Amino acid sequence: MTPGVRPLVAGNWKMNGLKASLGEIVAMRKAAEAGAVGEAELVVCPPATLISDAAALLAGGPVALGGQDCHPRGSGPHTGDISASMLKDAGASHVIVGHSERRDAYGETDALARAKAEAAGAEGLIAIVCVGETRAEREAGGAVAVVSGQIRGSLPPLSDPRRLVVAYEPVWAIGTGLTPTAEDVAEMHAAIRGLLGEIYGPAGATMRILYGGSVKPANAAELLGLANVDGALVGGASLKAADFLGIAGVCRRG
Ligand code: 13P
Repeated sequence: MTPGVRPLVAGNWKMNGLKASLGEIVAMRKAAEAGAVGEAELVVCPPATLISDAAALLAGGPVALGGQDCHPRGSGPHTGDISASMLKDAGASHVIVGHSERRDAYGETDALARAKAEAAGAEGLIAIVCVGETRAEREAGGAVAVVSGQIRGSLPPLSDPRRLVVAYEPVWAIGTGLTPTAEDVAEMHAAIRGLLGEIYGPAGATMRILYGGSVKPANAAELLGLANVDGALVGGASLKAADFLGIAGVCRRG
C-alpha cells in the first residue's frame, strides 16, 4: 500500500453474467454496507447489458459501477461500441481501458487506450488503464521496459491525475492461476510509481496502482500488502461475491 491512499478493488466480469448474476452484486452491496470489506473502495464492472440494472441495485450505496471499455468518441457511427457518456448515463463512475484481452483480440494500441482514458476523463469517469507484459517479454528480461513504454503511451494528461488508476496485469498471469513473485510485483509497481511521478509530478505519488492477474482470497494478503500495490483488478474471483469480498477484506488503508 501507499501511505495515505485508500485501496481500490475492482471486479472485471469480462464476458460473463446474465440477469441471474445480479444477486452477486446485491450481496456485494450488503457486505460493504455491513463494513465487511476492510477499508477498500469497491467497483464492479459487469458486462454492458447489466450496467443499468446494476446501477439501480447499487444506487446510493458504497459499491461503485464501471464499464469494461469505452469508445474514444462521444457518439456516432461506431456499431457495437459504447461511449463514456453512455456509461455515465447508465450509472457507471469508472471504466477499464486498454485491457490486454482487447489489446490482443482487437489490436488495441497504447494510443487508443490513451484516447479512451481521455474520453473517460472528459466525462468525469475514472479510467482504469491496464498495462502488462507477455510471458515472452518477461522471460526475455524486458518486462519493466515493456510496461514503461505502455505507461508512457497509454496515460493521458489530465487536470486531476488522481482520477486515473493504473492496473498492472501481467498477461501470463491472467486466468492462469500463476502470479509473479512478490519481488517482481514490487519491482514493477515501484517502476510504475517512478513513472507516474515523472509524468504527473507530485500527484503521481498517490495515484492508485492496482495489481491484476489470478488474485484470489488465498493470495490477496500477500499481493495487496506490497509497497505501491493499492488494490486489485480481479477477474474470475470477482464473479462470486464471497471471493470478491474475501479479497477486498484484506485491504487496509496505507
Ligand atoms: P483473473 O483474475 O481471472 O486472472 O483476471 C484478471 C483480469 O484480467 C482482470 O482484468
